[in-house]
Amino acid sequence: MADTAKLIIGDKTYELPIIESVEGSSAVDIRKLRIETGYVTYDPGSGNTGSCKSSIAFMDGKDGVLRYRGIPIEQLAKKSTFIETAYLLINGELPTPEELKTFSVLLNDHSLVHEGMRHFFDNFPPGSHPMHILSSMVNSLRSFYPEIPERSEEEEINKKVARSLSKVRTLAAMSYKISRGFKVIYPKPELTYAANFLNMMFDSPVKPYVIEPEMVKALNTFWILHADHEQNCSTAAVRLVGSARTNLYTAISAGISALGGPLHGGANQAVIEMLMSIEENGGNLKPYLERAKDRKDPFRLYGFGHSVYKTYDPRAKIMKKICHGILEKFNISDPLLDIAHELEETAKKDPYFIDHNLYPNIDFYSGIVLRAMGIPINMFTVMFAIGRLPGWISQWLESIEDPDWKLHRPRQVYIGSGKRDYIPIRKRNI
Ligand code: ACO
Repeated sequence: MADTAKLIIGDKTYELPIIESVEGSSAVDIRKLRIETGYVTYDPGSGNTGSCKSSIAFMDGKDGVLRYRGIPIEQLAKKSTFIETAYLLINGELPTPEELKTFSVLLNDHSLVHEGMRHFFDNFPPGSHPMHILSSMVNSLRSFYPEIPERSEEEEINKKVARSLSKVRTLAAMSYKISRGFKVIYPKPELTYAANFLNMMFDSPVKPYVIEPEMVKALNTFWILHADHEQNCSTAAVRLVGSARTNLYTAISAGISALGGPLHGGANQAVIEMLMSIEENGGNLKPYLERAKDRKDPFRLYGFGHSVYKTYDPRAKIMKKICHGILEKFNISDPLLDIAHELEETAKKDPYFIDHNLYPNIDFYSGIVLRAMGIPINMFTVMFAIGRLPGWISQWLESIEDPDWKLHRPRQVYIGSGKRDYIPIRKRNI
């Protein structure tokens, strides 16, 4: 492996250092490029740009690999819990039994939200999307839980991390209950993280919720699969906003806003709406496939394609299995699963999808799993957001400790007017 790259511009040659990765793409270090050459690089979407060094997640888009701190997601999905995986992502190592206990107690201690926050919910107009509500609520944590100068930086960060993980889950369940006009259910200390969430969502004073271990396992796996995905759009938003040294809550709130878009986390809602629309239209896939292939039509086959994976998303494979397992266990017959299968099989043989390397991504089957749990459609992306919290937190922590840290400030290639003079209003349009 060479340790420098050569760039020739006109009759000049510039040497650029190479930064070697452990696995995956190494990088050409262009930090001095503009100063030395006057040029910048042009990379819309940043698909060829390494914005940081990271040791949190590794993904290989060609072979469909995803590992958290080196551990394959297949192993974590099978053997771990969401909280243990969160600990791994945030701290770099799997916890000892004692560490896991301390972490769980800390999360439990921070699971309630300030009663004053409930008034917020009352003032959102009916029909507000839960992702918009959640983003605002998370941003407001900064005001309800201000920093205390007497605390050490480490203690302050530990509290912020625990609050983010624990309170966002409580806020999500509260937002559902309040939007329906139902009584808010508080977290219970004897329940695990995932079981507590299901209980807060579905328990009622007149109809106690029965916690099914298989549902809890499925939810743990759902969240593990969403826990981190290196420099995706919402994580990049967390790092970018965090680069201005904003606090963790504000950075996570930015991540939630980015995640809500239909090309990113909002796709899990878009997929189920697409499958429902196909069902309503008699199950005819053809118009949807034709629209997806028409470059003039903004419609896409939601749940298909990925910026990095050019093969089957490894998370989608596991999600498909959970989907089958949960439907079978609870004897649920969902016609949307049949439509999803047919769509996958048809797309698999269609030259457009083959040539564009478009395969199911994590969102393709996840909505059917969430429907089986009883989660309403407009909460789907909120479920993704809870799962992505450990990723956002660990990436934010890594960025604030990074010796190469910089305020994000990309450059541009200006293509507007050259210098021109201001024209007074009376002289315009003459
Ligand atoms: N349906 C139809 N065509 C598609 C799809 C799709 N789902 N995805 C990509 N394409 C086509 C594009 O039209 C484009 O075609 P062209 O080269 O002929 O113009 C080509 O494939 C490349 O598309 P880009 O958007 O440039 O590729 P990118 O890799 O950046 O796209 C993305 C990734 C945004 C996820 C895209 O595949 C997409 O829109 N998918 C549908 C939305 C979705 O499921 N998002 C969830 C992603 S997973 C996640 O965020 C958790």
